Amino acid sequence: MAIFKYKDEEALGIVLSVDTATVIIKVADLDKLRRMQVNRLVVLQSSKPGQHLIGLVQKITRSSVEQEQTGQKEADEVEMPALPPQLNLVRASLIGTLIDRVGMKENVFRRTLETVPEIDAKCFAVEGDVLTQFMRVITNVPGEGQKLSLGHYTLDENAEAFLNGNKFFQRHAVIVGSTGSGKSWTTARILEQAAALPSVNSLVFDIHGEYMPLTGNGIKHYRVAGTGDLGNKKGLVDGILYLPYWLLDYEALITMLVDRSDQNAPNQAMIIARTIVQMKRSFLETNSQKELLENFTIDSPVPFSMDALLTELNRLNSEMVPGAKAGTEKQGDFHGKLSRMIARLENKRTDRRLGFLFQLSEEATQLSWLSDLSRTLLAGTCQQTDKKGGIKIIDFSEVPSDILPLIVSLIGRLAFSLQQWTVPEKRHPMALFCDEAHLYIPERAEGDAANEVSIKIFEKIAKEGRKYGVGLVVISQRPSEVNHTVLSQCNNLVTMRLTNAEDQSVIRRLLPDSLGGFSDVLPLLDTGEALIVGDASLLPSRVRIQEPNAKPNSGTVDFWDKWLEREYKEGINEAVNAWRKQNLK
Ligand SMILES: Nc1ncnc2c1ncn2[C@@H]1O[C@H](COP(=O)(O)OP(=O)(O)O)[C@@H](O)[C@H]1O
Ligand SMILES: [Mg+2]
Repeated sequence: MAIFKYKDEEALGIVLSVDTATVIIKVADLDKLRRMQVNRLVVLQSSKPGQHLIGLVQKITRSSVEQEQTGQKEADEVEMPALPPQLNLVRASLIGTLIDRVGMKENVFRRTLETVPEIDAKCFAVEGDVLTQFMRVITNVPGEGQKLSLGHYTLDENAEAFLNGNKFFQRHAVIVGSTGSGKSWTTARILEQAAALPSVNSLVFDIHGEYMPLTGNGIKHYRVAGTGDLGNKKGLVDGILYLPYWLLDYEALITMLVDRSDQNAPNQAMIIARTIVQMKRSFLETNSQKELLENFTIDSPVPFSMDALLTELNRLNSEMVPGAKAGTEKQGDFHGKLSRMIARLENKRTDRRLGFLFQLSEEATQLSWLSDLSRTLLAGTCQQTDKKGGIKIIDFSEVPSDILPLIVSLIGRLAFSLQQWTVPEKRHPMALFCDEAHLYIPERAEGDAANEVSIKIFEKIAKEGRKYGVGLVVISQRPSEVNHTVLSQCNNLVTMRLTNAEDQSVIRRLLPDSLGGFSDVLPLLDTGEALIVGDASLLPSRVRIQEPNAKPNSGTVDFWDKWLEREYKEGINEAVNAWRKQNLK
């Protein structure tokens, strides 16, 4: 059944001018104009029968008789030509075509303009039942099974807002909004729905431990080992994650171990490279890995002994070599040049906060360990041994902030590399949810080597991830501080209330040109309300996100309420103690 049945007397107005995808509509009836609102939908008669052009209202102008008179007065003063008589105008951008029938299918919406409207064509407001019906068409995301639904349209509370779950993850997505606008709840809602799918596969980078309350069959929690976990023999099966130093690639290791401002930095980097290759080779020799020996590189994830590395560095740092004259000795090439690096390495190795990198169990120094880690983190629900938890939420809250980019990107690289090295027919797609992305995928590295390493990895995933079935969901309160190359690769935009002008302008640039005006509502959105634009939704739309069943921890402290209480728990001694021990437990 056709949705649009025009009755001439219900027309909003007629087309006055057409400019590519923008039309100006002249409205005669003031009542009808008053009912119009920006971002509402209009439909235009098309020259082809059975086709209807859909427009999004961008601007409404009314020139009343009164305004016209004053306008004319001013115009007289500067000797401008008189304005035309009363003109009520609606400007709309055309966003697609609804076709009554295509083959066997009824009511098909396409995001292309199959025709252009003609001057004097009639235009109608899409409202009431017609709007509900139209939204149903729009949201009828094809495919069987459970669909990705975020909530309901603000325009029509009865119409459920579905997204195309393939396109949402295929072409990357961003979720942005000022703090407290509802990003984490939206993320939780998406995760919750995905978790119900039998073979879901995702990693969530949870920087502050916000997503702890999310539970269920599809979800598992991991925490990067903190100081309190060291030595207690808990590991992967207990949800405690160690990320051995030998998984870091050369650049990441150099970032950790070499101080760029040291005058010996280039020498140190060179020595580290040489020694690590030696160490990896000797590990492979000891373990009789003939095939690997022929092909490994410095970046290959092959274990090596940190003790042996330090012994070798110390040897070079104090090496004496035969002098020019027989029987004499002189200092070796690197004598004394490695001292600062060795001290740095010793510090890191004993720093309890970095225990997850350096204070490893016996298993974590074995070649086979990478397979265990990978199976745990990168298998979907069905492939997990217990058939649970294809969504892996990784809590990074105990990782020191200066190396956070190195550690998050280490897991990003692990995911990407494994997908890349999986034969296409066995590749199982996975999404990486990057919460607080500005912290580890910043716009400017500002000379921070850890940021540089991380930006490089995430840029690669953003650009090439689609080929290998890795989707990014970038979540941030400061889109202007998130790497723009990464953002510009994201074809789905979920934007919540955004008050900062810089952030708004970054988002505006991501919007299609025809929707420029849409962004004016960014600062006005309600908490939990989002503008959704992109590949995954047929129409740019304003959606009230439905509350997730399990709510993320907001981490918001109610100052005034707390101050109103007559008693509070004293914890200062414990805090002092914990600070010294570097252990909260
Ligand atoms: N969809 C929603 N419906 C109702 N309330 C919401 C919704 N999303 C967020 N809120 C409210 O806003 C608060 C902040 O949301 P949150 O997702 O933590 O914000 P953000 O992650 O953007 O800082 C929540 O604690 C909740 O009270
Ligand atoms: Mg949040």
